[in-house]
Amino acid sequence: AAPTRYEAETSPAVCAGTIDSNWSGFSGSGFCNGTNSTSGYVQFTVSAAAAGSATVGVRFANGTTTARPASLVVNGSTVQSVSFEGTGTWDAWTTKTLTVNVNAGSNTIRLSPTTSGGLANVDYLEF
Ligand code: GCU
Repeated sequence: AAPTRYEAETSPAVCAGTIDSNWSGFSGSGFCNGTNSTSGYVQFTVSAAAAGSATVGVRFANGTTTARPASLVVNGSTVQSVSFEGTGTWDAWTTKTLTVNVNAGSNTIRLSPTTSGGLANVDYLEF
């Protein structure tokens, strides 16, 4: 089936930072600009039709030349580290594709930054 798009600015998503719209090219009404610290996470709640392996797309922009790595935390467990590299400018959005294991029904997927720079700007997650 086609993926569902979960916007970072739309509940039940949680952005530990601000919802901004000062850069172009985002989907919906804005994007999550997580606080520039390891506490500046974004969390999505997604619905899975079935348990098992699933593909996740995260659209982000990083206008710096330094990666903004984050832990990928699924239902409270860190499952991998993801490097959100520089995309050139804050207007340049790229989608990172990840594979995760989920439960049937509701699942939380959190990106929790591991460096003091915090997260890249995050537009949405597709699942
Ligand atoms: C700039 C930019 C923000 C970005 C921030 C950051 O302030 O305007 O969109 O989130 O840098 O470094 O995270």
